[in-house]
Amino acid sequence: MSEVIGAAHQFHEIEYAEDWARRFKPTPERLHLFETMLQQLQSAVPADGYVVELGIGPAYLAEFLLERMPHISYAGVDFSQPMLTQAATRLARYGDRVQFQQADLLNDSWSAGLGGPPAAIVSTWALHDLGGQAQTAQVYRACARALPQGGLLLNGDFVKPDGTLHPFEPGRFSVSRHLELLQEAGFSQASNLGLWEEEIEAPTASHNYACLLALV
Ligand SMILES: C[S@@+](CC[C@H](N)C(=O)[O-])C[C@H]1O[C@@H](n2cnc3c(N)ncnc32)[C@H](O)[C@@H]1O
Repeated sequence: MSEVIGAAHQFHEIEYAEDWARRFKPTPERLHLFETMLQQLQSAVPADGYVVELGIGPAYLAEFLLERMPHISYAGVDFSQPMLTQAATRLARYGDRVQFQQADLLNDSWSAGLGGPPAAIVSTWALHDLGGQAQTAQVYRACARALPQGGLLLNGDFVKPDGTLHPFEPGRFSVSRHLELLQEAGFSQASNLGLWEEEIEAPTASHNYACLLALV
């Protein structure tokens, strides 16, 4: 019961990043999160809209979206060169529809490096790694500033499920706290679209991820 639910990563190391990508291929369960995000984007983003992903990693989400939204353009932000290299390889067939930016999300200047205001900002399984609620809140505020009126943020990320007795790492916190932070960041509406692989009794670092939606 005392083991903290979380994981330490070495995303800047090539072998670690490649091994992580092999182990974290989207499972059918995880694809439910991608499908949920796709539905939101298809209803709220223009067909040729510009979408930005925070923490693009090996680009599993990016590939899923670019394949199903054939006219969007896409930018992936990540601080890991090994991850950006994998993403560039996976997305090479999309040519200049995709741009990359190497940046630390804890330095707000990442938003100045975007190619104009995005219609949507997306992220999966990344923001919990920033360290805690204050860091997630910082990125939420930067997203609220970067998005135009009507823009949306979709953050699919690990959370601490209600009712668990296990301690979780600080970056994994409750859905209700995420919603508070989104409102405080300046979003006009915030809601949760789902909770997948929910496990309260015997959670691991791979369980319990939600899809937070926020609108400017
Ligand atoms: C789980 S992976 C993202 C997987 C990705 N969404 C996909 O579908 O393939 C998390 C990524 O967040 C990146 N990341 C973590 N902390 C970061 C930070 N402070 N700034 C920028 N990127 C960060 C890591 O390098 C890693 O590539």
